[in-house]
Amino acid sequence: MTIEHERDIEALRAIGQIVARCLQTLGGAMRPGMTTAELDAIAERFLAEHGATSAPRATYEFPGTTCISVNEEVAHGVPGDRKLALGDLVNIDVSAELDGYWADTGGSFPLGEVPAKLHHLCDTTKRALRSAIRHASAGKPLRGIGKAIEKEARGAGFAVVRNLCSHGVGRALHEEPEFIPGYDDPTERRLLREGQVITIEPFLTTGDSWVETADDGWTLFNRPGSRSAQYEHTLVITKGRPLIMTLA
Ligand code: CO
Ligand code: CO
Repeated sequence: MTIEHERDIEALRAIGQIVARCLQTLGGAMRPGMTTAELDAIAERFLAEHGATSAPRATYEFPGTTCISVNEEVAHGVPGDRKLALGDLVNIDVSAELDGYWADTGGSFPLGEVPAKLHHLCDTTKRALRSAIRHASAGKPLRGIGKAIEKEARGAGFAVVRNLCSHGVGRALHEEPEFIPGYDDPTERRLLREGQVITIEPFLTTGDSWVETADDGWTLFNRPGSRSAQYEHTLVITKGRPLIMTLA
């Protein structure tokens, strides 16, 4: 969507804060032995208490409130019987709707002690998100987002997942501009416009650049032993720094 009134921003901030707090709550609630379905149930209660609706469930009939992807899973993981264990890297993606406005956030959380390389992966992905945000202002090329992400990834020796994209959001979970590449794509010629609402969500991996869909039809996974990280914000494009809607 494109912001037309100040009240659009207020409404986006409201749902943005709800998904951000929900993400923080789940990240803090993870325990070894807990199933991803138990973790997801916390989100279901949280969103209900705040009058919000799960975006993937409402949009795609996704079988969960949030997407929870563990270790070799990269995104769109279906909450279920999988038990969390110490050393896991858990990605939680929370998107929801309130009063017709939609916001989307996500983050990766190590459970207990993990190897230094995984902290490096998470830190690099956070840095890629910050760098891409700095490159996102009105009149600038959309290509700058992927360029910034790829530069951070390559500099640290990680790959960018190429078949997961950032996207327009606001009045629906996924809207124009769709498929904002997370890598430098010379065919990407669109420009960012003032008031545009988009997500930026770099996916960096120790595995391959292309991820596959599991038999459940949802979960995207990378090769065994690989790890991936993602951090996502919903933003409003301005002439200067974007306004971040998904702050807790
Ligand atoms: Co998301
Ligand atoms: Co998204």
